[in-house]
Amino acid sequence: MKFFLDTAVIDEIEEAASWGVLSGVTTNPTLYLRAGGTLAGFHDHLKRICDIVDGPVSGETVGLERAEIVREGEELAAIAPNLVVKVPTMPEGLAATKTLKEKGIDVNMTLCFTVSQALLAARSGARYVSPFIGRFDDISEHGIGHLGDVIKALSNYDFGHPVEVITASVRHPYHVVAAAELGADIATVPFSVLEKLVRHPLTDRGLESFLSDWEKVKNA
Ligand code: E4P
Repeated sequence: MKFFLDTAVIDEIEEAASWGVLSGVTTNPTLYLRAGGTLAGFHDHLKRICDIVDGPVSGETVGLERAEIVREGEELAAIAPNLVVKVPTMPEGLAATKTLKEKGIDVNMTLCFTVSQALLAARSGARYVSPFIGRFDDISEHGIGHLGDVIKALSNYDFGHPVEVITASVRHPYHVVAAAELGADIATVPFSVLEKLVRHPLTDRGLESFLSDWEKVKNA
């Protein structure tokens, strides 16, 4: 499984990249505003992220109509060769994805919840499909169950181009583990989840006892 960070915070991106585990980033203007940015600076910020990350960086369009999404997508794609255009799953989004694909621009189809949406996203030309997990859990549905259905359905077909599943709306480490067991290609996670994935109390306890033994050996 590849790990993407779902963030706009440069320090988090640099830290994950330094661990050698970062394969991409998904971000949007809301995350950037939450990180203290302004809308006017968003494209420059995306450029900074693209320079750091050795992999795809998804930047989101905000238009609701196909021509507008395509225009925004072309502007975003011009920022860097590894910029992927994030487009919402909706009829106008499918139409924009078809056009962007014809122009050689990769699309990450976001806000995807169902098997039918995922099949249509892949068919329209999306390079990445992002099923959301946590938002299903929020409404007492089984997000991981829906993810499994999407992965299974997509694996039945050859879409004529590579399609990778990005597990999105990840809130807990167990979402990532379950997604990996289902064979999801990618999980995009907040930095707080990535940190929880690497830590374990038994590792901490083992380290403590190793250090205390080492002190004794040194002082013997
Ligand atoms: C990523 O592409 C999605 O926008 C993100 O994972 C959504 O997460 P949320 O449901 O926690 O907002």
